[in-house]
Amino acid sequence: MEVSIIGGGYAGLVTGACLANLGHRIIIIDKNTEKVQITNNKQSPIYEPGLENLLQQHVGIKLHATTEFDSISSSDIILICVGTPSKSDGSIDLSYIKSACLSIGSTVKNNCCIVIKSTVLPGTTEKIVRPLICMASGKSEKEINFAANPEFLQEGRAIEDFMYPDRIIIGTNNLYTRKQITKLYRGIYAPILYTSIPIAEMIKYTSNAFLATKISFSNEIGNICKHLNINTYEVMKGVGLDQRIGSQFLNSGVGFGGSCFKKDLSALILLAQRSKEDPILLQSVLDINTCQPHRMITSLENKLGNLSGKRIAVLGLAFKNKTDDIRDSQTIPVINELLQKGACISAYDPMAIKNMQQVFPDINYCHNVIDALTNADGCLIMTEWEEFSQLNTEFNVMKNKVIIEGRKIVSCKGVDGICW
Ligand code: UDX
Repeated sequence: MEVSIIGGGYAGLVTGACLANLGHRIIIIDKNTEKVQITNNKQSPIYEPGLENLLQQHVGIKLHATTEFDSISSSDIILICVGTPSKSDGSIDLSYIKSACLSIGSTVKNNCCIVIKSTVLPGTTEKIVRPLICMASGKSEKEINFAANPEFLQEGRAIEDFMYPDRIIIGTNNLYTRKQITKLYRGIYAPILYTSIPIAEMIKYTSNAFLATKISFSNEIGNICKHLNINTYEVMKGVGLDQRIGSQFLNSGVGFGGSCFKKDLSALILLAQRSKEDPILLQSVLDINTCQPHRMITSLENKLGNLSGKRIAVLGLAFKNKTDDIRDSQTIPVINELLQKGACISAYDPMAIKNMQQVFPDINYCHNVIDALTNADGCLIMTEWEEFSQLNTEFNVMKNKVIIEGRKIVSCKGVDGICW
């Protein structure tokens, strides 16, 4: 099939590379010229395991990137994969969606299927996307088809998630569109759930809200276990063996970061409040998550006292391992608090230093773990990088061996966990 993808970010690029791998002809449209050039040079503008390999196989043959929308005039399917960031009040910013709709409208052909993969609140496709595209194209709702098909890709394992998903959600009431999208995923073996468009949109928010709830729940239990001197990881192992609960997303620690959970929870909370609901559970999930990073600092102060002038090694800047993404990383509030308290930071991450330099240009970044740890009064481990799991004698270069983990990754003795 001829498929155009609007937006060459994480979701768009991974989706494009994987669909090319399934045999489709893919055009990725992104307004960022640099990103387009990098992609067309068979390199990945983001770090995602396996992505560059797929780009090297398919760019120039089955996949190419462009800044121009003209090329979508022959597309059978158009996937909208642009970002839907949060506004300052937590509501969803639809400006990229709206601008994509206007550009699509100018060249879309009759009977094309327009599929929203971006995370949008229930009702958005039918009340905003469809009217905008119909208005811009001058076509009626019968001449263009619409669907919502949310993605559930996790950064760091997005290719695997795409190729082996737990399920594919196809939201549309139109039989032809249903068949076209089903054809798009031919070669992927997963249960397909056909729903209406608003249900598909809501499934995405509900999934993210539930996963975030599991994490905040585990953190609350972990915080209690810490006082009781009980190993919360052993507790959750026992709990997760119950199939009604499941063993994933029960890892306690410094809390969730990333581009989705906080943003989607905030938008869902606001939507609920506008419907005169008081979503106290969802709000607590966010509140627990906001408090977790502060616990890292409290644990450090309990051991070191006043942090002013103390050298603190911060290991891990990315919001999780296997990515260079720092969006909503829990390391950001930790660094902010350390700076407020007058600590002197030496930071290290195998992938994310360049991105964190945009947020904190003036802290000291190190080339390796040893440089970060040398003469440090304390160390905070913030990301579950594999590289940190084997650390042991490396800590001997510290002035004081005060080490606190926000993710359970280090195996040597003498390391204190945030909730274990
Ligand atoms: C998430 C969803 O999982 C994915 O389905 C959706 O499409 C996008 O948002 P992502 O943000 O890439 O994916 O990462 P994820 O693996 O879900 O982790 C999010 C955050 O939760 C990370 O900071 C991670 O460290 C943290 N986490 C995860 C925990 O603290 N404990 C856990 O048990 C699992």
